[in-house]
Amino acid sequence: MELTDVDSCIKDWDDLFAEYKNLETLNKQYVAKLEEVGELQGKCMKEISHQRYRIGVMKNTLKKLDDDPSNKAAVEQLEKNIMIRKAQLYDMEESLPKSNSLYLKIILGNVNVSILNKENKYKYKEEYEKFKLVLSVIGFVFSVFNLLVNARALELAFIFLLVWYYCTLTIRESILKVNGSRIKGWWRIHHFISTVAAGVLLIWPNTSTWFQFRTQFMWFNLYISVVQYLQFRYQQGVLYRLRTLGERHNMDITIEGFHSWMWKGLSFLLPFLYIGYAFQFYNAYVLFFLSYQEDATWQVPMLSALFFMLFMGNLVTTSMVIPQKLQERSKLRYRFKRNGNNHREEEKSD
Ligand code: COA
Repeated sequence: MELTDVDSCIKDWDDLFAEYKNLETLNKQYVAKLEEVGELQGKCMKEISHQRYRIGVMKNTLKKLDDDPSNKAAVEQLEKNIMIRKAQLYDMEESLPKSNSLYLKIILGNVNVSILNKENKYKYKEEYEKFKLVLSVIGFVFSVFNLLVNARALELAFIFLLVWYYCTLTIRESILKVNGSRIKGWWRIHHFISTVAAGVLLIWPNTSTWFQFRTQFMWFNLYISVVQYLQFRYQQGVLYRLRTLGERHNMDITIEGFHSWMWKGLSFLLPFLYIGYAFQFYNAYVLFFLSYQEDATWQVPMLSALFFMLFMGNLVTTSMVIPQKLQERSKLRYRFKRNGNNHREEEKSD
């Protein structure tokens, strides 16, 4: 009986060995393809920088030729073609790995955070927006409780959550940036400053100055949570429309349709944003006067300065968005020019 069992085990093992041999071949093929992919990625990156270098040289030449009116039409056509090519190169780059920024290298080490597929990029961005939404709902609930109840532990738990939240945002935004997001430097700096501000709030001793500022601070957070919800609605709309524009055969949304929706969304959102900035200025103003009180610690003037920086940076950056959006239309058209075999025709017909 035992012998038979051993025999069947040996037979099983031989069967498994044959299957393993197939697996081994498959794995070898896979490793070879990986190596091939690595080589192709390197080649593509080299070619892209070569294209960029030559475009740079051509642009300089075109600038000089621009003065002569007889060249005007040809120069304009070439400039258009350059814009299309830049958008095409940007598109290609989205499928290639990029190296981490210094901040990510320090935090995560040299792990690869590139997302090489458009669909997954959209998903990651969507997840980032949802993360902000969930945290602003939690922030809203915390602010309400803190307005109703005066408990130091609850206050500190909320402020600690803010430190963690803003810190996490800076990491997620750096990953988005590596993956081609056009997020402006200020919004990332804004979240770094917010992390510092939340850290300073956390170590602000429980003095009468804090007590005087506490209610205003909770109302401010309540308001910011509402604004963040509105921002979420706007960003979701933009993301959905950009995604639809990016799909090859989807004709549901045009660039014009996207723009008219975007302006509607922006004109609804902007007043709420500017009220938020006024609130930030008011925080800075109140803290400035509180800093002259006897029991005011260094945290008070520091927070006043941080709120003022946030106010100024937000005001300037958001106000710059409008003229930029007006110029953006043609860039967007080039960005969504379909890549395919018909490049030359597109370049000629444009
Ligand atoms: N935080 C994070 N990402 C932002 C951002 C912000 N505040 N503002 C813009 N982005 C991202 C966009 O999602 C887009 O990402 P993508 O390239 O991955 O698609 C990229 O940056 C470029 O966006 P842009 O076209 O410049 O602006 P937009 O139309 O997406 O948004 C505003 C314009 C003004 C609505 C937006 O910047 C905003 O809400 N700003 C206010 C933020 C603020 O003040 N917060 C504090 C409230 S008191």
